[in-house]
Amino acid sequence: ARLVVLVSGSGSNLQALLDAAADPAYGARVVAVGADRDGIAGLDRAAAAGVPTFVDRVQDHPTRADWDKALTAHVAEHRPDLVISAGFLKLVGPHFLAAFGDRYLNTHNTLLPAFPGIHGPRDALAYGVKVTGATLFFVDAGMDTGPIVAQVAVPVLNDDDEEALTERIKEAERLQLVEQVGRLVREGWTITGRKVTVP
Ligand code: GRF
Repeated sequence: ARLVVLVSGSGSNLQALLDAAADPAYGARVVAVGADRDGIAGLDRAAAAGVPTFVDRVQDHPTRADWDKALTAHVAEHRPDLVISAGFLKLVGPHFLAAFGDRYLNTHNTLLPAFPGIHGPRDALAYGVKVTGATLFFVDAGMDTGPIVAQVAVPVLNDDDEEALTERIKEAERLQLVEQVGRLVREGWTITGRKVTVP
């Protein structure tokens, strides 16, 4: 299966997929990596693995809708079976969702629907929850609201600060991402309303 991965930052989730895909038995390979900005480690990781990259910056387009169309076209060129947002810090628009809405995954660093948005672990700490985790879901038009594929729980420890909790979540998140993407590409999936079924 063909994976296109979208990144905005360090790309550690991308790296986990690149490493897993080195084994042909995994059943998927990363055919391209896209970003919304230059100069990020995620693009360097792709280049180091010999994977083609593209960058679509919102500010290079007259409107957000134009950006959405350009991103959609770039992703489509690589004919993905799955598109994976791995720390991609942009909400895609209707054009993208029309093309990839049933095969666009995102990984979020809390147990949704609690603490959506870009400061999930910080918000979870501030609330005082004792368990949080990571959620893999299919993206819909909302922010962190789409049908859930899998979740993994991570304890909040007494002496956690935002950095320590964020890192502990990311370890579990990477394992979940690799395992579940492998399962999806090998088994297939259906989305019925909010329910994701893997046969
Ligand atoms: C992940 O924890 C994701 O949940 C959050 O950003 C992080 C991305 O990390 N939105 P990386 O770029 O894969 O290292």
